[in-house]
Amino acid sequence: MVVEPGFDLADLTFWKKPLDERNAALARLRAMERPVYFAEPKVPMLRSGKGFYAIVRHADVVEISRNPKVFSSEPAVTSPPPPGWVKNVFGESIVNMDDPRHARLRRIVSRAFSPKMLADLNDDIQRACERIVDDVIAEGPRDFVAQVAARLPITVICDMMGIPQELREKVHRHVDISTAYTGVRSSVGRTLRMAASNVHALFELQRMVIKLGRERVENPRKDLVSALVNANVDGEKLTDKELGSFFAMLLVAGNETARNTMAHGIRLLTVNPEQRELLLSDFDAHIGGTIEEMVRYVSPIIQFRRNVTQEYELRGVTLKPGDQVALMYGSANRDEEVFTDPDRFDITRTPNPHVGFGGPGPHFCLGANLARQEIKIMFKELFTRLPDIRSVGEPELLLSNFDNSVRSQAFTFGEG
Ligand code: HEM
Repeated sequence: MVVEPGFDLADLTFWKKPLDERNAALARLRAMERPVYFAEPKVPMLRSGKGFYAIVRHADVVEISRNPKVFSSEPAVTSPPPPGWVKNVFGESIVNMDDPRHARLRRIVSRAFSPKMLADLNDDIQRACERIVDDVIAEGPRDFVAQVAARLPITVICDMMGIPQELREKVHRHVDISTAYTGVRSSVGRTLRMAASNVHALFELQRMVIKLGRERVENPRKDLVSALVNANVDGEKLTDKELGSFFAMLLVAGNETARNTMAHGIRLLTVNPEQRELLLSDFDAHIGGTIEEMVRYVSPIIQFRRNVTQEYELRGVTLKPGDQVALMYGSANRDEEVFTDPDRFDITRTPNPHVGFGGPGPHFCLGANLARQEIKIMFKELFTRLPDIRSVGEPELLLSNFDNSVRSQAFTFGEG
């Protein structure tokens, strides 16, 4: 559907437009009285084509996120949803579930993100960041994504899960294939080809982590896989299939998001030199605000969907069971009703109630504190050892209506 004055969020060409143009279009949508419906093309065999109401205002994203009974995450928060057989074979992802199934799984996997687990991970993250900067210095600066941003999150997730070193190469390969699949739907042929490789990659990952889980039942260690497959005091543990799908979910949810925040982040600190100077004048005082502002400004997840279960009035629109709404986080994070001068990157913005980690509600990002910890340690290591580090030129972006992905970003750490 083409909205006056002429754009269509359901058309991928919209997401190719320069950021300023997209932001201006979303601002026009926010100014409209009612949420606008966008029809989607039917893609044979992919079960999409339902169309969606674009939820572009901050207050509406918050209202919907808080009301999971009406706005369900089932069958999926992405479009198109994974086919039924994928769910049967691989098990379901927590992000695509409603309570009580969601609450039970979230209770178990929350062990991964307890303050104690995160504190225990601190040294691992520090060591990973040191190795990354050692390598950057040895190799010289080429691509910030490949050399820095893409390396850290996956290493941290493998450390967390206790994945042995000899299996990590395999994990990296499979993640590359899986992440290439998310987001873009260019042609049916290409999508189906990518889907086939993706399924194969998921199979391999699942087999690997289930095998590891069985070993940890026999010989528990101090890692997360052991904690997830062995019953804790409440007698709850993950089944084989749940462990496999949780690992796959971590690799997708925790990888691209943190990576893209860092990749966009180095550029934001380069093109806003006064903000960079402020950060470096007292890193520890300003890094918290810097990370929140990066997540707001970048909005690494562009949108997640919800599925309407019962009639609901939203600003003059009567939503019906079966309708879909798209929570447009990037737009909500630039809502002028909530953020003064929203296009300005301001690390002192207080308060900063962005919805980059999701709206308030049962699905709020489980990994938010882990992401904050990773980004903080990585930038501290970078700015301490390479104080002149800067991005160079424009990033190469991946076309996606789902995540705000940077494929590559040139950088330098020489003076000048
Ligand atoms: C800057 C980095 C990150 C951003 C912007 C981000 C964003 C999000 C968003 C928007 C959601 C909400 C989904 C919904 O409401 O349907 C979410 C959920 C989730 N995230 Fe993150 N995420 C980040 C990092 C991470 C990391 C590092 C991990 C783990 C390693 C992680 C794990 C999860 C999980 C498990 C959920 C599902 C929670 C549930 O459904 O109960 N995320 N994330």
